[in-house]
Amino acid sequence: ENFGISDKESSTVENNNSPLVPKEVMSAFEGEWRKNETLFQEMKRDLTRCCKAESSFMTKRNVRVGEIVPNVLNPKLPLKMTKDIYRNLIKDWPFKNKRFDKCAVVGNSGILRGSYCGASIDSADAVFRCNLPPLGKKIYQEDAGKKSSFTTAPLSMLKTYIQMHNESVREQFLKDMEQYNGILLAKKPNNYTKYMIDSIAATRGEELQMVYEHPHHFLRTNNYWNNHGIPKKITSGIYLLSLALTRCDEVHVYGFWPFPRDHKGNAVAYHYYEAPVFTKDSHDMPLEFMRIRRLHQDGVIQVHMRCSR
Ligand code: CTP
Repeated sequence: ENFGISDKESSTVENNNSPLVPKEVMSAFEGEWRKNETLFQEMKRDLTRCCKAESSFMTKRNVRVGEIVPNVLNPKLPLKMTKDIYRNLIKDWPFKNKRFDKCAVVGNSGILRGSYCGASIDSADAVFRCNLPPLGKKIYQEDAGKKSSFTTAPLSMLKTYIQMHNESVREQFLKDMEQYNGILLAKKPNNYTKYMIDSIAATRGEELQMVYEHPHHFLRTNNYWNNHGIPKKITSGIYLLSLALTRCDEVHVYGFWPFPRDHKGNAVAYHYYEAPVFTKDSHDMPLEFMRIRRLHQDGVIQVHMRCSR
């Protein structure tokens, strides 16, 4: 099965540095979109079952003291569940008995610039975001919105706050996290993450809850996509999309465009909040994007490239 990717397209999108993305790639998002309820429900069911969505975070119920939890990025460095970390885990899954009507899943592509999608994103009941994007800055709000309900926090970005016993680092951490609400998902958690969780719980426990990713859930979701046309490790973006599909009745997608140019040949920055450089990534984002486009065409999710002002 080619999962909806024509030979012409796959050869063009193979290389991140290819100058042009075929016009058809973008035109798939123009015109009316209709939900296919049957396919949507099928996918929701598959993703809930395959990956045990209710175990997406480590909780006191799904982890034991002494357990060795695998490390997604580095299998040689698994996390040993100590009493100290266990004490820190949430009791139960916060999404239990929680459903959302309309969700927005927001990637960080520069395609958001000038999209005017901020209001549309913020109108969702739950907004899923990747990798601690800047939400507090006014200049991005018109295009990317400011609401967040679920945000992934990679270890690479949390590293800055590793000296949490230092008061000024702690203050900086809490200040930097002020822009987020809902759930902050610590990816690839380690012993240091514990202090961050403590600090957030003590100061903003009501509005912001920091939780540990459950690597088994990530690996199961990764495995699902490996069997559905994405052989490489999945991105945070498609991981969140998969989680949102299990909790939401409508999934709207923004900020996914892993190409250095748009269909007209204009430069597109890798991130909407950075200079127009393009980073080479370790995933296969172009291939993932073609899967996402297919889901849009099939009526499962609705991808937005431009929004009305
Ligand atoms: N993304 C995209 N096009 C881009 C940049 C990002 O489609 N030009 C999507 C990807 O799905 C990505 C998500 O938006 O996972 C968040 O972007 P980013 O923070 O840049 O993710 P990376 O650090 O590049 O990748 P990851 O966290 O998935 O390892």
